[in-house]
Amino acid sequence: MAISGKAAIAGVIGWPVGHSLSPRLHGYWLDCYGIDGAYIPLAVEPADIIAAIHALAKLGFAGANVTVPHKQAAAAAADRLDDNARRLGAVNTITVGKDGTITGSNTDGFGFMENLRHGAPDWRAEHGPAVVLGAGGAARAVVAALGDAGVAEVRVVNRTFERAEQLADDLGGNISPLPWDALSDALGDAGVLVNTTPLGMAGQARLDIDLAALPVAAVVNDIVYAPLETELLSASRARGNTVVEGIGMLLHQARPGFAAWFGQEPEVTPELRKHIVEALKG
Ligand code: ATR
Repeated sequence: MAISGKAAIAGVIGWPVGHSLSPRLHGYWLDCYGIDGAYIPLAVEPADIIAAIHALAKLGFAGANVTVPHKQAAAAAADRLDDNARRLGAVNTITVGKDGTITGSNTDGFGFMENLRHGAPDWRAEHGPAVVLGAGGAARAVVAALGDAGVAEVRVVNRTFERAEQLADDLGGNISPLPWDALSDALGDAGVLVNTTPLGMAGQARLDIDLAALPVAAVVNDIVYAPLETELLSASRARGNTVVEGIGMLLHQARPGFAAWFGQEPEVTPELRKHIVEALKG
């Protein structure tokens, strides 16, 4: 769509940024709602991230998303952080106030939970402990969101046990750090299993785990979305578990930023999913 001189401008800051699906995603919504706005890729080298974030205000941007490897640096550069970004120490969404103030937030946990609720509408926090594979940045957002949703115990199973312990220390609440070989025992009474590691992603090693102990009533969510249906999801589906694909987290995490910058609550629809999936295939 053609834009005017008054267009609202946002973008995604990353390095590299060429693989990002966010311009396609926000561009779809801008077209769909006929908004006078633009959303562009912003390739920023790590050495320039602080200057680039402050430049958003000087250039009149409404805000930006922040992706790998800049999420922690963006948290340090922001003038203020919302509670969630402060707790996670990472920012994926920036809004620029009228006075030029940079506010950092983190919508990854929101995206995860909205995706889980849409994909598994019968899932309830009371159904049992959550088991989260991985203890990286994505795991932090997922674990915090599960705790907020009322899950009584979140078991974090990680190859490097100390990293799971660190996550538990940093976030607080009822988080049980576990080594990888404790996975089978951890699955026994689980209400939901979430993979936050890159295992199972195209080009990565397989996620080689034994699901035998997992209750059939448990929901299984992989945040990997390339391929759309990972081996974890297809194996879980085959044994009767409800499965939630990872692409939805990407789509839902984008909603709060779009609403803040462009003044329209956007919707995640099957057409949007199809539009993004086409790019994954390409
Ligand atoms: P992100 O920010 O996307 O979560 P990350 O911080 O690099 O990425 O975290 C990746 C997670 O996947 C970590 O939990 C990592 O385990 P370690 O803490 O032991 O490194 C996990 N991971 C990556 N490759 C793995 C592998 N081959 N086997 C098991 N876990 C793996």
